[in-house]
Amino acid sequence: MHNDKKTTYFQQLNQALKNHERTIPSLLIDLDQLDKNISVLKASISSSMAFRIVVKSLPSLELVHYIMEKASTNKLMVFHQPFLTHLTASCDDKADVLMGKPMPIKTAYYYYKNLPKNELNFNPYQQIQWLVDTTERIQQYIDLAKKIGQQLRLNLEIDVGLHRGGFSNLAPLAKALALIQANSKHVSFSGLMGYDPHVVKLPKLIRSEQKAFQLSVNFYQQCKDLIQQEFPNLWQDTLTFNGAGSPTISLHKEGNSPLNDVSAGSCLVKPTDFDIPTLARYAPACYIATPVLKKFSGTTIPTMEGMKRMLNQINKSNRQSYFIYGGFWKADYYYPTGTKANGLFGNSTNQTMLNAPPTANLEVDDFVFLRPHQSEFVFLHFGCILPIRDGELLSAWQLLRNY
Ligand SMILES: Cc1ncc(COP(=O)(O)O)c(C=O)c1O
Repeated sequence: MHNDKKTTYFQQLNQALKNHERTIPSLLIDLDQLDKNISVLKASISSSMAFRIVVKSLPSLELVHYIMEKASTNKLMVFHQPFLTHLTASCDDKADVLMGKPMPIKTAYYYYKNLPKNELNFNPYQQIQWLVDTTERIQQYIDLAKKIGQQLRLNLEIDVGLHRGGFSNLAPLAKALALIQANSKHVSFSGLMGYDPHVVKLPKLIRSEQKAFQLSVNFYQQCKDLIQQEFPNLWQDTLTFNGAGSPTISLHKEGNSPLNDVSAGSCLVKPTDFDIPTLARYAPACYIATPVLKKFSGTTIPTMEGMKRMLNQINKSNRQSYFIYGGFWKADYYYPTGTKANGLFGNSTNQTMLNAPPTANLEVDDFVFLRPHQSEFVFLHFGCILPIRDGELLSAWQLLRNY
């Protein structure tokens, strides 16, 4: 953000937060910026591909439903049984849930034994695609389907180069498909999932982005060909061929990609881990804001009291020290510019010591702002999200409960 714009933006937010009824560390989401990021995302997805929201990266029911509506999608990718259970209560009969990682069979059974009330006709048997990565796991899901007397849908994880599991050769994939076909009374085949962030994360000297992308889509296409040619009974136009994530979503285009379903979450709020070239057109939409509790002239470190003058001379920022409410989040201090955690005092999740240059004009009860490194874990430290529209705070949104 340009410096003048940054100052105006955060000074307005500082004032809004100071006028707010409650002063605790908060997670802010700028809905105006989120809307712009949704438009960038939608414009970059080919019309032949559906957009699927990665729930773990946007872990709030209100936030997920807001994006479903703005981005006109019913598709969700879910990674955590408690989140699946909470979503089950709030989704309607159009939602399409793909699990983003294989769930232990006991977790799937627990989910079905503890289904929440749903008044919107969500069908937890037909609207969830369980991700499976081995024939052993497929067998477990067949047994579960028999036990609960319901047919379950299975999506196969394939390894397109990330090497985080899934089928990495055609022969075991064929065995898996044959097992599903032989048990079609209990399980149905719903498609493939192959996640590819390595394409943009590998050092260029080891493998170029282009080469890694080509290898990845070639294997994906071979898997699709295998189904179509050797398992025509399993082939349907409605199969889900999911892949991509924030870092690679802009690379998949109709004509160069076998996908018909792409997922992303983090790019919509853009934490710092996503400050990467393929996401240059997105801007940050999430911040942590926390109040300053104490301000001191100079920096005094326990047992180093005699060095206070020297510390002040080494670095102008040391001429003022502060303690904030909380701290030690996986996040970077962002505003006021130049604000830093004091490296000598030590980290504290209760009250962190900061230093800031005199130009920061930071006083007790002012807020400091940080950019989270990532959303999925950092957001869950906060009880709720404070949405912002036009620089004003709106009513809080709850974060998804982790149990
Ligand atoms: C299977 C899968 N798909 C997609 C994503 C992309 O999520 P995001 O866009 O938040 O990076 C992830 C992230 O971990 C993932 O594991």
